[in-house]
Amino acid sequence: MPATCNVVVLLSGTGSNLQALIDSTRAGDSPVRIRAVISNRADALGLQKAQDAGIDTAVLDHRQFDGREAFDRALMALIDDFEPQLLVLAGFMRILSATFVRHYHGRLLNIHPSLLPKYKGLHTHQRALEAGDSEHGCSVHFVTEELDGGPLVVQAVIPVQSGDTPQTLAHRVHAQEHQIYPLAVRWFAEGRLRLGQQGVVFDGQPLAVGGHSIRS
Ligand code: GRF
Repeated sequence: MPATCNVVVLLSGTGSNLQALIDSTRAGDSPVRIRAVISNRADALGLQKAQDAGIDTAVLDHRQFDGREAFDRALMALIDDFEPQLLVLAGFMRILSATFVRHYHGRLLNIHPSLLPKYKGLHTHQRALEAGDSEHGCSVHFVTEELDGGPLVVQAVIPVQSGDTPQTLAHRVHAQEHQIYPLAVRWFAEGRLRLGQQGVVFDGQPLAVGGHSIRS
């Protein structure tokens, strides 16, 4: 692993996770260098956050392409021009083709607002409340071809409180996302985290299937 780890971030929206990542790289000893932020939406607020931080941005509008494969091919070419060691999905609202996922195997991370494997897909906070769960949270995982199903790196677990709504829960989970995503990215950049043949390897040892668990 080089002294600096080039990271490309893909997003479609607000970019609060991007902002947390940017803030974390301001620590003088961070090996993470956010090389570029790419969005499929020109109006994504995250692009402005990147520009404010002096980070290169690019927009690739999926509606201009004839199908998922064609878009993903163009996206890969754009990403690879920045020569990232790590690709970070931060609210990128596109399903990725198998070709894309395989191309970035072992160097593609995602964050999901639930304690995976619970509540893959959308409306996770609502679903956790409807199920009467006492705990909820978020997960960072390596991306594989199974949607929201790749090997777990770290989860933040929070208690569900009486009176919680999907909005209050989302708010507290989001705050946790901003802690664990920069942490996982840093672990990768430091060479402590990698995807091995049998699963996630951390500090040279196989990581338990649920990944690290951080409770608050
Ligand atoms: C987060 O909730 C994340 O878990 C999901 O997309 C959302 C992105 O939020 N993958 P933001 O744009 O980083 O604020």
